[in-house]
Amino acid sequence: MENALYELARKRRSVRRYGKGHISDEVIREILKTALTAPTSFGHKPVEFYVVRDQDLIRRIGACKQMGGSQINGADAVIVVTVRTEDRRAAEFWIEDGAIASSYILLAAEQYDLGACWVHIRNRMGQKKTSDEEIRELLGIPAGRTVLNLVALGEKGEAKRPYKEEDLHFENVHFVE
Ligand SMILES: Cc1cc2nc3c(=O)[nH]c(=O)nc-3n(C[C@H](O)[C@H](O)[C@H](O)COP(=O)(O)O)c2cc1C
Repeated sequence: MENALYELARKRRSVRRYGKGHISDEVIREILKTALTAPTSFGHKPVEFYVVRDQDLIRRIGACKQMGGSQINGADAVIVVTVRTEDRRAAEFWIEDGAIASSYILLAAEQYDLGACWVHIRNRMGQKKTSDEEIRELLGIPAGRTVLNLVALGEKGEAKRPYKEEDLHFENVHFVE
């Protein structure tokens, strides 16, 4: 049987340089539709996405991460992945829930041949407060959410070699008899 997901996954690489091409809102919606199918603990669906297209705002989000935040400059869109950590039921698994949804975004972006990169936010510092606090303040994200990460999206501005069978760490796979 053809493994279509493997074919997609092996092409997905972190792309940190972007071209000038514009991603339509429709494609962004399709990508997020995929992310909304991601499994969440107990099916609580606590992950919320904030889509930012404005270039100045993207730069200001980048400034909320002291080290390396500027890497999102030039991305056509940034998806801020937040989780409703105020929800006691969801709080225990918030990292897992946000991370799985983010992985879906990365794969969905590859399907549209878009460049994408996970930019870490949890436990990172901004200019004065944590990156999470500064991003929430900047975007007016309601209380009770925590920012896990960003996903920067844009036309691919660098070519990355797809993974090949030889690149896979099959030594990490153990079949238990
Ligand atoms: C939890 C996590 C945090 C990451 N944080 C960053 C980051 O802050 N900046 C960045 O450029 N890449 C980040 N990445 C991307 C990794 O550096 C990248 O996936 C890794 O180097 C493997 O390369 P590949 O994505 O091309 O397979 C992160 C990835 C994960 C899963």
